[in-house]
Amino acid sequence: MIDLRSDTVTQPTQAMLEAMRQASLGDDSRDGDPCVRLLEARAAQMTGKQAAVFMPSGTMTNLVAILTHTEQQGEILLEADSHILNNESAGMARLAGALARPLPGKNGAMGLSALEHALKRNHWGRRLISMETTHNSAGGQVLSLAHMQAVYALAQQHDVAVHTDGARLFNAAVFLNCQASDICAFTDSVTFCLSKGLSAPIGSVLCGSVEFCNKARFYRRMVGGHLRQAGPLAAAGLLALETMVARLHEDHRHASHLGEQLHRLHHRFCNPVDIHTNIVMVDVSHSTVSAQHWVRELLKHNVAAGAWSDQNLRLVTHRHISTHDIENTITAFEQVWNAVKNQTLK
Ligand SMILES: Cc1ncc(COP(=O)(O)O)c(C=O)c1O
Repeated sequence: MIDLRSDTVTQPTQAMLEAMRQASLGDDSRDGDPCVRLLEARAAQMTGKQAAVFMPSGTMTNLVAILTHTEQQGEILLEADSHILNNESAGMARLAGALARPLPGKNGAMGLSALEHALKRNHWGRRLISMETTHNSAGGQVLSLAHMQAVYALAQQHDVAVHTDGARLFNAAVFLNCQASDICAFTDSVTFCLSKGLSAPIGSVLCGSVEFCNKARFYRRMVGGHLRQAGPLAAAGLLALETMVARLHEDHRHASHLGEQLHRLHHRFCNPVDIHTNIVMVDVSHSTVSAQHWVRELLKHNVAAGAWSDQNLRLVTHRHISTHDIENTITAFEQVWNAVKNQTLK
């Protein structure tokens, strides 16, 4: 099966499994664990922040970031299609008691004039601006540094903190050909996942100032995310940071080639210019059948895709997808597309 549903399906490498076997087994929430400390120090260094806190998931790091910034009396200004707002089971509202102020955006970037307007309005509680890069529902598009800088400048003018959901932060850095810390210069806190394109089995990290991270540890415990013998997970995560970032460009190359070939099949499937990283959103609305139909038909050709909506498929490249798999996926699309067209003609 060519599994393009998500980069979360990646398996740990043999080296990660070996590192997990040999890892320290300290109680991270009691005495601290050496491997966890190393991972957190490396994460802080790579993002240019003072400190970091290891957690099980990206959803939890985002929730804890919101709790820490707003202390359960906040208002979050964020782009309307953000993962935090739409895909995290309303944790920001239900658990952090935060009011969402969704702002219209383009390609994952919130409109700056809408942001400025919202910042001038009356508000309730502590405000936080949240950005997302790469942006999941915008098909893995990357915020430009200029945009992030402009958002950060507005935030500072209004004395508002900024968080960035960087679940795929290193994909963004590869696309921009910069260091992760160059991106994180325009945010007070940032989260990234070790478990997606970086292939670790589990884990995400929240990075920020020492004061912020100390407070985040309190909220992590509140939501049950404090960890005990987390050394093996941290050991895999550390190896993910050291060895997997350098290969992400291969996933981007595969996504880009896939997008170009789908565009060639029909220009409305996707616009290759929109494919920045490892996600290809395919618009099937013109094909007269639903995305769910496409998923079922592609499965018959051993291609697993995700239906992002009734009209969109999401295909995500990762370490287990080879150039050959991409060619087979293109062939599968051609065959399904021909069958759909023949069906329509009947
Ligand atoms: C942009 C973004 N943020 C956060 C998450 C949540 O990560 P997790 O699945 O580890 O909770 C995801 C997961 O796909 C994501 O794409």
